[in-house]
Amino acid sequence: MATRPILSGLLRANIPRLNAVSLTNTTTTTLPISNRLTFSFSTPHTKTRTMATSTTLPETMRTLLQASRTSTEVISTTHPVPTPSHPDDVLVRVHAAAPCAGELLWAINFPESVPPGKVMVPCQDLAGSVITAPRDSGFAPGDRVYCRIDAGRAGAAREYALPRASELAKIPASLGWVEGAATPLSALTAWQALFDQGTLDAKGIKGDAAARERNGKIRVLVTGAGGGVGGWVVQLAARAGAKAVVAVCGTDKEEAVRKLGATEVVDYTKTSLEGWVAADPASHEVDLVVEMVGGKTLTGCWSAVKEGGAMVCINSPPESGKPEGMKKELAKALFFIVKPLGSNLAEISELIEAGHVRPTVDSVWEFEDFKKAFARVESGHAKGKVIIKLSDEA
Ligand SMILES: NC(=O)c1ccc[n+]([C@@H]2O[C@H](COP(=O)([O-])OP(=O)(O)OC[C@H]3O[C@@H](n4cnc5c(N)ncnc54)[C@H](OP(=O)(O)O)[C@@H]3O)[C@@H](O)[C@H]2O)c1
Repeated sequence: MATRPILSGLLRANIPRLNAVSLTNTTTTTLPISNRLTFSFSTPHTKTRTMATSTTLPETMRTLLQASRTSTEVISTTHPVPTPSHPDDVLVRVHAAAPCAGELLWAINFPESVPPGKVMVPCQDLAGSVITAPRDSGFAPGDRVYCRIDAGRAGAAREYALPRASELAKIPASLGWVEGAATPLSALTAWQALFDQGTLDAKGIKGDAAARERNGKIRVLVTGAGGGVGGWVVQLAARAGAKAVVAVCGTDKEEAVRKLGATEVVDYTKTSLEGWVAADPASHEVDLVVEMVGGKTLTGCWSAVKEGGAMVCINSPPESGKPEGMKKELAKALFFIVKPLGSNLAEISELIEAGHVRPTVDSVWEFEDFKKAFARVESGHAKGKVIIKLSDEA
C-alpha cells in the first residue's frame, strides 16, 4: 500500500514553510519544509505506517458519511486521510465531533450551501490537535483547537479533518475534548444572533458602561432555550446585561436555563406564547427574539415581540410564521446562517477561560454508536450538544 507522507501533500498545496512538532518529546519547533521529521501517529482504530525518515500518517481513517445528498442515512466507512490543498488548510487529529440538528437535510433544504463536490462527511464541529498548520497561521502542531467547519466542506466525523486557520481558535484549558466539540457552532450562532444580527452590544460583556446601559433596556426572548444554541443565547444575553432573558423551554429544562441566567421561563408544554403575552402584555412583551424552533413557536413569537422590535431567526424565515393579517412592523426581522469565524470563537474562549460561560453536553457516544447519536440530535429534545468520540482520548 502507498505511504502518505503529509509533507508531500503540503508541498503540493504550495505552502512554503510549516510549523512542525516532534511528538516523541512534545517539543515544538519550526522547521523548513525540506527538513525531514521523524514521528508517527497511532490510534487503536487505524492502520498505521511508520516511515524511517519522514512523517507518516495512517493511510486510512474511520469516517462517517451521509449516504447521498438526498438521503439522511449516515454510514461508517474508511477513507484516505485528507491532504491539505488550500493555503489555509490545517490538518487536525479529531478527538470529538458534534452533529447539528437538521444538518442531514441541508443538501435538500439549502442546496446552495452544500456544493456538489462536497465529500459528505457530517458534523461540522470539532475539537482536536493540530498536526500541520501553515506558517504564520497562528497555529502550530500540537495546539489544542476547536472550530466549526464551513458547511460547504467536508465535516469532522472522521479521524483527521481540514479546517481552515480562519475557522480555528485554541480550546480554553478548562475544556476537555468533549466540551470543546460542544462549543463552536452553538456559541458562534448565539454570539452572532445577539450581537451581529440582533440588537445587544457585545461590549456589554466586557463591562462597557454605555453598552450595558443600552443592553439594560432590552428584554430578550429565546426559544429552544434548553438546547445547544439556546443555552448559549441565555448565557451571553445575561452576561451582556440584558434587561431580562426569557427562556422558552420544556418543563425538564427550567432549572438548567435558570442556572444559565434566564430571568423568566415560559414552559411551552403548559402555555402558548400567545397566551403568556396576553396574560400581561405590558410586562411580557420583548424587544428582541432569537427564534430557532419554527412552526407554531415562530408564530407565537410575533405576538411576543414589541412593535418596532427585532426578530432574529435561525430555523425559518420570520415572515414564514407571521400570523395572517397581523400589521406589526419590526425594525429587524431576519434569518441568517452562522459564519464559522475563529475570531468570534476566540472571544468566546476568553469568556470560558474566565469561568463566565460553559457549553452544555447532552450525551457522549462512541464512534460505533453514531446512529444513536444522530437519532438523539434529530429527536429535537437534546439538552445541549450530542458528541461523537473519534479517539480514546475524548
Ligand atoms: N441558521 C444557522 O446558522 C443555525 C445554526 C445552528 C443551529 N441552527 C438551527 O437551530 C435549531 C436549534 O439548534 P440546536 O443545535 O440548539 O438544537 P437542539 O440542541 O436539538 O435544541 C433544540 C431545543 O429546542 C427545544 N424545543 C423543541 N420544541 C420547542 C418548542 N416548541 N419551544 C421551545 N423549545 C422547543 C428542545 O427542548 P425540549 O426538549 O424542551 O422540547 C431542544 O432543547 C435547529 O433547527 C438548527 O438546525 C441554525
